[in-house]
Amino acid sequence: MHVTDPLVEEYRRTHPKSQELHERAVRAFAANGATHQARVLDPFRPYVTHATGSHKWDVDGNEYIDYVLGHGALILGHGHPAVVQAVQEQMAKGVHYGENHELEVEWAELIKSMMPVAERVEFCACGQEANLMAIRLARIFTGRKKILRFAENFHGWADEVVRVGSAGVVADEVDVIPFNDLARVEEALARREYAVLMTEGGGAHMSGQAPLDVDFVRTLPGLTKKYGTVWLLDEVVTGFRDAPGGWQSTVDVRPDLATIGKCAGGGLPVGAVLGRAEIMEALSPRTPPEQRISHSGTWNANPLLCAAGIAACKLYLDGRPQKRARELADYLRARGNQVLKDRGIKGRLYCRTVVHFYLGPIDYEPSDDTAPPTKDIKKIMNREMAPIQTRLGLHLLQRGVATMDARFFILSAVHSEQDIDQTMDAFADSLDAMLAEGSVPEELRAG
Ligand SMILES: Cc1ncc(COP(=O)(O)O)c(C=O)c1O
Repeated sequence: MHVTDPLVEEYRRTHPKSQELHERAVRAFAANGATHQARVLDPFRPYVTHATGSHKWDVDGNEYIDYVLGHGALILGHGHPAVVQAVQEQMAKGVHYGENHELEVEWAELIKSMMPVAERVEFCACGQEANLMAIRLARIFTGRKKILRFAENFHGWADEVVRVGSAGVVADEVDVIPFNDLARVEEALARREYAVLMTEGGGAHMSGQAPLDVDFVRTLPGLTKKYGTVWLLDEVVTGFRDAPGGWQSTVDVRPDLATIGKCAGGGLPVGAVLGRAEIMEALSPRTPPEQRISHSGTWNANPLLCAAGIAACKLYLDGRPQKRARELADYLRARGNQVLKDRGIKGRLYCRTVVHFYLGPIDYEPSDDTAPPTKDIKKIMNREMAPIQTRLGLHLLQRGVATMDARFFILSAVHSEQDIDQTMDAFADSLDAMLAEGSVPEELRAG
């Protein structure tokens, strides 16, 4: 028997042109018509025509408050005037000279001025590429092959950085251990076989869905140094989002290497490795060939990207966009957590400018709502909650709020309090609808 779902029916009715595009897309793109795993949705995600500030619109004229924001790249919002102007002017002057140019130097200097780890900067095309470059640098520097990573930490989709055991992946040199467990880290490092220890800025998934203990992180520079391993901090999400100096500046640690991406490019695709000059020396043509990395890459530091990156980084310098995004995140969490408490739903919004949504037992009430209400990583990462969040994400889309399956809300400096009020009304309304339709399981209902 075919059971119709009123929400899906209503969504299809209000998104007819998106549905048509989706039907074309499934014949082009194998991932159910999507071009990124996070854009896969049953029945389909909206097809967007344009965006400005904190809002975007789809082919059917529906408007959304956007909490996806270029997968976290757009802390300045869509189409920031300074970035648009810089890109337009540069477009007319030349997109790609295939030569060195002043903009790349200016951009690297700006990055160096904000992130002291950047004794040297190496640009590439995206965050994952930066991580792969960092791994190779560490291997050459240490003369070791093996990679140590933390469970759940995300660094991209390539063999050495994706989840071990994923289909088609060969990652013989990778070991994965739990994080926040100092004894396990020391035990592993003491074997003196790891070239690099990779750590995601803030914690696992988008700046810390499962947060890193700050005390734990602060021991990593000393421990890695003691056992001759390079410590790499992946700040692809947190770089320039948390602070001008990245998450490393907020917790006051100095890695050997850091990677950035997303916000660094002002909305254009970028990755970069920042790090100690002696480690980066492998890129020098004066280094003997057997110790050298020959780095190519058509899009490395192209002028268009540099123009956007410079415009954005100039705005990051004084920390104002980051501060504004944090204030708005505070406001969103406060309103959203009240919505959950009023309905007796076991869940919390937490974390910094990427506000994560946890559903599950409240083990304790943290004094600071940037922390989740449990320390149990299994509960935080409980995959059984995914269908409930996906359902909520569809309810939110239908009410003009775009998230990635309601897993998190990515804030920018250009959301307004009014946006958040509207979002939290939609959040409340969606949860009420889910309570009424019976899609919030009993275990998530208080008492
Ligand atoms: C922490 C982290 N590292 C690396 C990456 C990969 O970056 P990119 O998608 O630019 O390759 C991501 C992407 O979301 C990320 O969140």
